[in-house]
Amino acid sequence: MNIEFIANLAYIVSSILFAFGLKLLGSPVSARKGNILSASGMFLAVLATLASGHILSLQWILIGIIIGASLGALVAFKAAMTQMPEMIALLHGCGALASVFVDWTSYHVHGAGDMTNSITLYLSIVIGGLTFTGSAIAWGKLSERLPGKAILFTGQKIVNFAIIASILILGVMFIMNPVRYDLFLAILALSLFFGIFLVIPIGGADMPVVISVLNSYSGVVACTTGFVIHNTLLIVVGSIVGANGIILSIIMCKAMNRSITNVLFGAFNTVVKKQGVVEKKEAKSISVEDAFLVLENAKSVVIIPGYGLAVAQAQHAVRELGEFLEKNGCDVKYAIHPVAGRMPGHMNVLLAEANISYDQLMEMDAINPLMENTDVAIIIGANDVVNPASRHDKASPIYGMPIINADKAKTVFVLKRSMATGFAGIENELFYYDNTRMIFGDAKQTVQALVAEFKSGQH
Ligand code: TAP
Repeated sequence: MNIEFIANLAYIVSSILFAFGLKLLGSPVSARKGNILSASGMFLAVLATLASGHILSLQWILIGIIIGASLGALVAFKAAMTQMPEMIALLHGCGALASVFVDWTSYHVHGAGDMTNSITLYLSIVIGGLTFTGSAIAWGKLSERLPGKAILFTGQKIVNFAIIASILILGVMFIMNPVRYDLFLAILALSLFFGIFLVIPIGGADMPVVISVLNSYSGVVACTTGFVIHNTLLIVVGSIVGANGIILSIIMCKAMNRSITNVLFGAFNTVVKKQGVVEKKEAKSISVEDAFLVLENAKSVVIIPGYGLAVAQAQHAVRELGEFLEKNGCDVKYAIHPVAGRMPGHMNVLLAEANISYDQLMEMDAINPLMENTDVAIIIGANDVVNPASRHDKASPIYGMPIINADKAKTVFVLKRSMATGFAGIENELFYYDNTRMIFGDAKQTVQALVAEFKSGQH
């Protein structure tokens, strides 16, 4: 048995570990195990690659591992939960850049090979290049280092078409004559530019979807790089990531009632939508003490978390409140909107961190039919995902987006700091409804104050 055979065997085991790891990630109960399994698969793959004898320099690889791992650990420890989407953008960008470097090295050392190889190499540097700069722009927008709004300028369409046409024409020339290093470099440079132009016209609000699409692209690049260097594992893993990313993007778009083309190319044909007029009565607020009296008598409560819960880090206090309500004989459920927060599964992760039982978490479609029979809906730091305008106001930018029908509950408490808008930047008419009461303040402090009321009520 030669070393190459063993390495390939290890790659197959790694692929199986990735597939099972991914399966386990499907539920919060098994997600940790899934992560460990996938990470073990990756560790095995790295060992197999190092042992396979195809590497160019062990010293440089070790230096790279030390620098990369230290930087990665530092950034990961420092990143708050709310910064996770931008962190993911950064990591995809780095993955794509790494693939481009591998392609480049392979071209430098072995040349482009036959026509099929040249086509794969070409695709790899184009997708890798645009994924790197696109991810960098997405990271900048999400971390507010760059302006979040869509950047539009006259002649943008022409510039984009010119770049695409040049990439295509130079590509044909390169595939016909793959020894031309100048063409390779020109295609790479244009692809890097294209990534910037692709993402700047997309508004910050759509960045999570863009990141998911770029995630998919980074998988495709890993896959094409796998073909370039004849590495089976990269082909398998790249395909998995590519397919996952695109499925996730479609799920997110559906939850926002948008099409993926509208998210990615909407800004090229931007129509500024008028927001429907919110009939402004006076929003009524309620004190924590009075809210407690209502909750004390409630038989059913649905808690609807949103981005503000993550900002306030109120998840542990929320679990305590839920426990007090239950002890009081109340049925407590948590309603999870698929795009509440800033990344898929954001609310599930937060609530799981506070050890809230998974049985109490309910998806939007399951909870909505129950809302009419709910005594109190407590909205904690959510806004857009409970905006009833999406059901009836055709002029609203979120018209058609499925929401959690919090307004159908007998009483609605909204915990937020002010009357400010949410991510979509639009007013929420729910705040002015007759059955709604605002409880202003930081979500964690408000929930803790409610818990304190329950505690003092016990004595
Ligand atoms: P948002 O509509 O963004 O509203 C969050 C609310 O939290 C704000 O109105 C804010 O009001 C409040 N808040 C902030 N900090 C707070 C604190 N410390 N205490 C209490 N409240 C606080 O959130 P959502 O309802 O979760 O909706 C998510 C939005 O993101 C949607 O528009 C969705 O389309 C978009 N989006 C999400 C995703 C994913 S995958 N999750 C992907 C793409 C887009 P105050 O400032 O008044 O406190």
